[in-house]
Amino acid sequence: MVVMTNVGVQIPARPKIIGVAHAAFFTKDVDHTRRFFKEYLGYEEPFVVPDEKGGIAFAAVKINDRQYVEIYPECRPGSGRLCHFAVETDDAEAMRRYLLAMGCCVSGPTTVGSLGEMNFFVTDPNGTICKIVEYRPGSRIVEDFGNHLSDRRVSLRMSHIGFMVEDVDKAFDFYVGILGFREVWRGGPDPSKVAWIHLQVPEGEETIELMLYEAEPSQADAGHMNHLCLEVEDVGEADRLLAGRTCPDGCPEPVSIKLGINRKRQLNLFSIDGTRVEIMDRRTIDGVSAPSSEGVPMRYRPSVGGS
Ligand SMILES: [Fe+2]
Repeated sequence: MVVMTNVGVQIPARPKIIGVAHAAFFTKDVDHTRRFFKEYLGYEEPFVVPDEKGGIAFAAVKINDRQYVEIYPECRPGSGRLCHFAVETDDAEAMRRYLLAMGCCVSGPTTVGSLGEMNFFVTDPNGTICKIVEYRPGSRIVEDFGNHLSDRRVSLRMSHIGFMVEDVDKAFDFYVGILGFREVWRGGPDPSKVAWIHLQVPEGEETIELMLYEAEPSQADAGHMNHLCLEVEDVGEADRLLAGRTCPDGCPEPVSIKLGINRKRQLNLFSIDGTRVEIMDRRTIDGVSAPSSEGVPMRYRPSVGGS
């Protein structure tokens, strides 16, 4: 199916986006971060992809059959920690053609990834890299369905991935206007300002969280904003489960359970790099949804000093 624009250009229909597939982070200590996710958070690691020098290109920790956290060795000390995030589509090549027709910054052809998934990359207007993946029968990921799903997992689902957004208008043009995400909630600690905006994938449940900011962020700020969220039924139970395990030495202190602005209880953990893992209740504390903020979305202003 194609859509004709008013200037006669044919735009292919957008394929479905059915979920958030993975979060990929750089780390200064691959083995430490692998232990954090495996021994402490209870996940299995079905795939370790070697690099050309006999080291690790990345390790894939399995949240569930369709969601992973990918752990990459840092390219240089102190570099940004978010490598990319991925969404799942039902037709990667059709999505690539669609994004090209929409004028987006798309990587080369759709290729078969290390785990057998069809994939390509698109860079959003703020410079964040979004990977588009399609799980095909016969791929290593699909062949692993039903396996490596430990009973020790602290959470069975990654409900969202959050990342820093410098220009919220450009982000909306891309994620809402082109990819079809829809806004489900916005909020922040200051009622007069919007710091977080949740956009839901168009044909699925998961969200991305646009993390807005004004001042140049420190590395600790960036680690707080570029994060992943693991959803649980009872964050108190998750806390008790983790208390019986040992977090690898060197991780920043966790932030104990608190009630979020969204009225959901949350617990925040940090990898050795300060990358935040938010563990959050699926439901609000009393079943009542938190209203969206009517504040003004924050905008990055380089003249504002960092914290
Ligand atoms: Fe979050």
